[in-house]
Amino acid sequence: MGKVIEMNHPLIKHKLTFIRDKNTGSKQFRELVKEVSMLMGYELTRDLSLETIDIDTPIMKAKSEVISGKKLGIVPILRAGLGMVEGMLNLLPAAKVGHVGLYRDPETLEPVEYYCKLPTDVGERQLIVLDPMLATGGSAKAAITFLKNKGATNIRFACLIAAPEGIKAVQDAHPDIDIYVGAVDEKLNDHAYIIPGLGDAGDRLYGTK
Ligand code: PRP
Ligand code: URA
Repeated sequence: MGKVIEMNHPLIKHKLTFIRDKNTGSKQFRELVKEVSMLMGYELTRDLSLETIDIDTPIMKAKSEVISGKKLGIVPILRAGLGMVEGMLNLLPAAKVGHVGLYRDPETLEPVEYYCKLPTDVGERQLIVLDPMLATGGSAKAAITFLKNKGATNIRFACLIAAPEGIKAVQDAHPDIDIYVGAVDEKLNDHAYIIPGLGDAGDRLYGTK
């Protein structure tokens, strides 16, 4: 079973409070999502492997470590996942970015796919799928299945807020996936919104309704 890694950092908790607050406007919301994503990127990359290389410092020859192993790929689920990309890229500037477009049909709550553009070597990369919200888990499950069908074998999922229902759905469908989450909330309401949550992430990022 994949692990659930809930962020326990005071800065993340503090910023999530203002992300949740309905009086936070789109500009500040976007900035906070970017900042939390960057902080989460630090945790997401904690287990990257290292190799030792030879370098010359101004003083002497030395051995020092650099990241090795699989190259990274970031895959935001459109639209709201886009809000997390810049923060991640600040930490991982060499990562390639793929895009998967999904929206949740408001009637059926099923994910509908409308766009996909991925790096050609997606199978060789360590992928980080980004979406601020993991609610029923339908979108995350579909995006991960989609990436696996394209050859991806090494995927982790990162979200700001998750409902227990969504975590269980992803774990049941994809037991190989670790989930990195800013906060695990109480549950879903009757419209499958996370409570207390933050509302509709895409609308809050982009000022739509
Ligand atoms: C939101 C969110 C997730 C999805 C989560 O996207 O960004 O992708 O809902 O819900 P689920 O876990 O029940 O699938 P939405 O469908 O509103 O599309 P948007 O990002 O284009 O606004
Ligand atoms: N999508 C959102 O943007 N928010 C939720 O609470 C659930 C799904």
